[in-house]
Amino acid sequence: METDRLTDLTEAYGSLIKKRKHYIEAVALMQWDLQTNAPRGAVQGRSEAIGTISTEAFMLLTSDELDGLLTELLKIENYESLSPVLQVAVKEDKRELERYRKIPTDKYRAYKTLTAKAQAVWQEAKMNNDFQLFQPYLEEIVQYQRDVLELFGYKGDKYNVLLDQYEPGMTTEILDEIFQYIKDKTIPLVKKIQLTGNRLNEEMLLKPYGVEKQKELSRRVLQDMGYDFNRGRMDVSAHPFTIKLNSGDVRLTTHFSEHYFKNALYASIHEGGHALYEQNISHELKDTSLFGGASMGIHESQSRYWENMIGRSLEFWKYFYTPTAELFKENLMGTTAETMYKAINKIQPSLIRILADELTYNLHIILRYEIEKDLINGMIEVADLPRVWNEKMEDYLGIRPEKDGEGVLQDVHWSSGMFGYFPSYSLGNVYAAQFAKKMKETIANYEDIIEKGNFKPILNWLRENIHSHGKLYKPAELVQRVTGEAINPKYFIEYVENKYQKIYQLD
Ligand code: CO
Repeated sequence: METDRLTDLTEAYGSLIKKRKHYIEAVALMQWDLQTNAPRGAVQGRSEAIGTISTEAFMLLTSDELDGLLTELLKIENYESLSPVLQVAVKEDKRELERYRKIPTDKYRAYKTLTAKAQAVWQEAKMNNDFQLFQPYLEEIVQYQRDVLELFGYKGDKYNVLLDQYEPGMTTEILDEIFQYIKDKTIPLVKKIQLTGNRLNEEMLLKPYGVEKQKELSRRVLQDMGYDFNRGRMDVSAHPFTIKLNSGDVRLTTHFSEHYFKNALYASIHEGGHALYEQNISHELKDTSLFGGASMGIHESQSRYWENMIGRSLEFWKYFYTPTAELFKENLMGTTAETMYKAINKIQPSLIRILADELTYNLHIILRYEIEKDLINGMIEVADLPRVWNEKMEDYLGIRPEKDGEGVLQDVHWSSGMFGYFPSYSLGNVYAAQFAKKMKETIANYEDIIEKGNFKPILNWLRENIHSHGKLYKPAELVQRVTGEAINPKYFIEYVENKYQKIYQLD
């Protein structure tokens, strides 16, 4: 009797979760299409369709039906009989349901419509360097964020609520300390590099590179990394991204520029890192809400590990120089793996985050983090953003944008309401360096295998230690399990200091 009832409960719960996953897959496919192949005319209608299906998924998540099932499953007599995976899953689902139930459906729907519109307005504002056009929309979005965190309730800093959505368990207390450390170490290092006057030559990267051949190189590197093209595909979009439709379909996109060789290659490797994560989650988690990355920071650790610690290493260029030079003989005449490595790693403060080198990149993130935190806490208002942005750019990077399109309007995140997301990128750098340190201790001939383009032992390590677990562990728990200590930015700083000391011959 008892077991039958439990089976009925878990089945009913499983089919609701599956239904929600199907809605999410529909939305993902609509979004993928919108950003890759859909004609311009599709935008309005598609945004509405996405709004409708997203609201269905939201209503399902917050439904009395799911709530009833979860409440039953969480009763001690039932809970104890669940598999360890289901135990974590029901707790997580209940937590999410409780949070989202606090948002009235009408408010949620209105917000979805607002952000769909805001993204289109932001694009126009960015193109015309017209912050005032975007300002009223951003004000509404910020107001929604402030309202929601009051509804959710918070401990400590209000911004913790937003952080927690992307990095469960992360707080401003921890982040302030990590970011202060990175800032204190990075700013003088960048100055030191600039003082050497040792401007690395990247001329070879600015020659015309045919798109078809670039595509071939991207496919080659993805294949060597272990990306499974039978369960994914590579397409082109304005902003590269990775999207999981279901367990057998994890797609990525890249963006080719004929006159900047670095763009497509590193976008492909970066998105490849995200895609490998999603392709290697244990199938045991497939039908649960745990089938995804542990957090956005851990996700970024995977993309940034492949992009920077593999893709921008000297060993990588010892392996990848030959296939590149075979395709682009004329462009690379008179160059070597070593000169290519140096060109790729040129340090130069840039106005644009996505064009930043791996050292100055974190300064772009810290600036955004500080602004978001002040904005959410009411220390500054939306109208202050252009001024505050430009001041901080000058303080941290020594350059000042002349147009808002290259400044405060450059990123899509705020127009889609993604407050609390930016720290994930720098957390990714920090986690990646910490994981890499561990990998070097455990994988034999770590440098040699990279030089040979044999990434299998690396992918196996990542799969076993990180990918396979999906959302089973919270990020802090995962980092502790994998590295034996809590998050520590020391390894990232060690890594960059070491690397750039050699490249720029600093003393
Ligand atoms: Co990424």
